[in-house]
Amino acid sequence: MEIFIDSANLDEIRQAAESGVVDGVTTNPSLIAREGADFESTIREICRIVDGPVSAEVIATDYQGILEEARRIAALDERVVVKVPLIPEGVRAVATLSQEGIKTNLTLCFSVNQAIMAAKAGATYVSPFIGRLDDIGMDGVAVLEEIVEVFATYGFETKVLAASVRHPEHVRQAALVGADVVTIPFGVFRKLFSHPLTDQGLEKFLEDWHRARLEVKEGAGG
Ligand code: G3P
Repeated sequence: MEIFIDSANLDEIRQAAESGVVDGVTTNPSLIAREGADFESTIREICRIVDGPVSAEVIATDYQGILEEARRIAALDERVVVKVPLIPEGVRAVATLSQEGIKTNLTLCFSVNQAIMAAKAGATYVSPFIGRLDDIGMDGVAVLEEIVEVFATYGFETKVLAASVRHPEHVRQAALVGADVVTIPFGVFRKLFSHPLTDQGLEKFLEDWHRARLEVKEGAGG
């Protein structure tokens, strides 16, 4: 499973990249707006920080507008993946962009049928938003699982990128159902490394070791 960081905050992305387990980054207009920095320079800097794919989203919602923006965004860096909303004009644009060899991520996916449209358009990734489905009382992981199953049935090449992750349990569940990628907010990402029993166990190891070393030293000293 590939792990992406869902952020446009350069400090978060630097810290995540240093962990040694991050494969890429996803951004969206809200994450970019939150940072208040220039869009293109932010995407270029993220590409300098992380070796893997970096998703950057268009703002246009019409076919021609999406195409023009997508080609401009794709030119920022060879590793940029153009994020396009999963609307009819977006799917149509992705079908064209796929023919041009531009990597795409159809986002704001909330159903199996939408995901099938993304795969038929040749999207590189499709992003089911599991957290937002949970937010309205649906089971986001169940939708994710069905998408993974349908993609496996037909051998679709589009990668299933679990998004809108709210907590470590979403990461575990996405892995269990076989998502290709999970994109994780930095705050959730940091929690993935920790367990209280690990901390307790390490403390005990070190305590026993140092006590034994002290006893040896005292013994030697007579
Ligand atoms: O960036 C796409 C997605 O992960 C955003 O999810 O629901 O946290 O805004 P959300």
